[in-house]
Amino acid sequence: MSLRILVTGGAGFIGSALVRHLASESDAAILTLDKLTYAGSLTSLAPVDNHPRHRFVRADICDAPAVRATIAEFRPDVIAHLAAESHVDRSIDGPGAFIQTNLVGTYTMLQAALDHWRSLEGAAKERFRFHHISTDEVFGSLGPTGLFVETTAYDPRSPYSASKAGSDHLVRAWGHTYGLPVLITNCSNNYGPYHFPEKLIPLMIIKCLAGEKLPIYGKGDNVRDWLYVEDHVRALRAVFERGRPGETYNVGGCNEVTNIGVVERICDLLDAMAPRADGASYRAQMSFVADRPGHDKRYAIDATKIGRELGWRPLETFDSGLARTVRWYLDNRGWWEAILKQRYAGERLGVNA
Ligand code: NAD
Ligand code: DAU
Repeated sequence: MSLRILVTGGAGFIGSALVRHLASESDAAILTLDKLTYAGSLTSLAPVDNHPRHRFVRADICDAPAVRATIAEFRPDVIAHLAAESHVDRSIDGPGAFIQTNLVGTYTMLQAALDHWRSLEGAAKERFRFHHISTDEVFGSLGPTGLFVETTAYDPRSPYSASKAGSDHLVRAWGHTYGLPVLITNCSNNYGPYHFPEKLIPLMIIKCLAGEKLPIYGKGDNVRDWLYVEDHVRALRAVFERGRPGETYNVGGCNEVTNIGVVERICDLLDAMAPRADGASYRAQMSFVADRPGHDKRYAIDATKIGRELGWRPLETFDSGLARTVRWYLDNRGWWEAILKQRYAGERLGVNA
């Protein structure tokens, strides 16, 4: 039987990858609900324009009547809840939007989902899942060794991660108290096509091509565990189709790289794919700037549970995924040039602490 899947935040980076995947690789009916903040782009959904199984609704997840009306009309089997304010640096400059969307918005989604679930009967009630897409940042920062597991204690340290930790707690509370069949995934840093240019990897590619300095925070020795976005959406699908309600699954790419290592690899790929006119390496543009306030040192995920229980594993290595990503930014200048012109021009964010 084909599922009816409501994707909040489906015009964003990961949400649009999930929508494109479901449109091409499943028989699901898909509804995207998105406010189209600065981070949402209908152009990321252009590949599913006029797709017979996809519809788009512009709405704010904090707007309870709009959310309730959308759910009542679409009658989802799955709510994949991705809508959020997602950028750590912006949470330093302006935490209010993070509290509103990530906490109040998630509460609003949970209340509407609960009423919907209670209205269902039989197989439809059994089938329903509320899946919250969360982050490894809720676990805080690791030292040189160790990995985040599902039972690692929460220790969020930025306004962004604190708001996501709070939303995880709300989701678990609605599961325990009301019996709502909830799922949570906590994943590491995604990268790939349609990534908003404020984030490290697209920002560095775009600044390389513009001949600008590449701003590396601090010493560049912070470590992130990079996950190709299409590997992530396969994990999400495995979880909402086959995961056990009430459970949490960590999702990671097994690709720990320092920030400086990421920037060097981008430079090397561009040296080969789009060499500078003067013949010098893009590495000449690397520069070190003041660190992010409260910068978490290292994130790394143990993804054993989702592998053991649901058979998921990442298919891309960091080298293969990064090469595909750099190629995509070279071939899709129109997508990111429009964003640079209208919404974000590459300026430094998150220094107002
Ligand atoms: P994104 O910033 O690219 O997209 C967020 C989307 O949510 C946008 O389309 C935006 O318009 C929409 N949105 C924001 N506020 C809204 C509101 N009030 N109502 C309706 N829509 C709203 O984010 P992303 O990187 O795709 O992340 C998606 C989810 O995954 C987030 O919940 C994020 O916390 C989580 N996550 C992201 C990463 C990552 O590396 N990008 C890693 C772990 C977890
Ligand atoms: O770990 C998962 C998280 O990954 C998600 O929950 C967030 O939504 C997502 O934005 C991402 O958070 P990060 O803060 O890790 O991503 P960002 O791309 O902002 O930064 C990655 C690293 O690169 C981080 O250590 C800061 C550094 N950095 C970032 C920028 C934008 C730089 O050195 N220079 C930069 O210009």
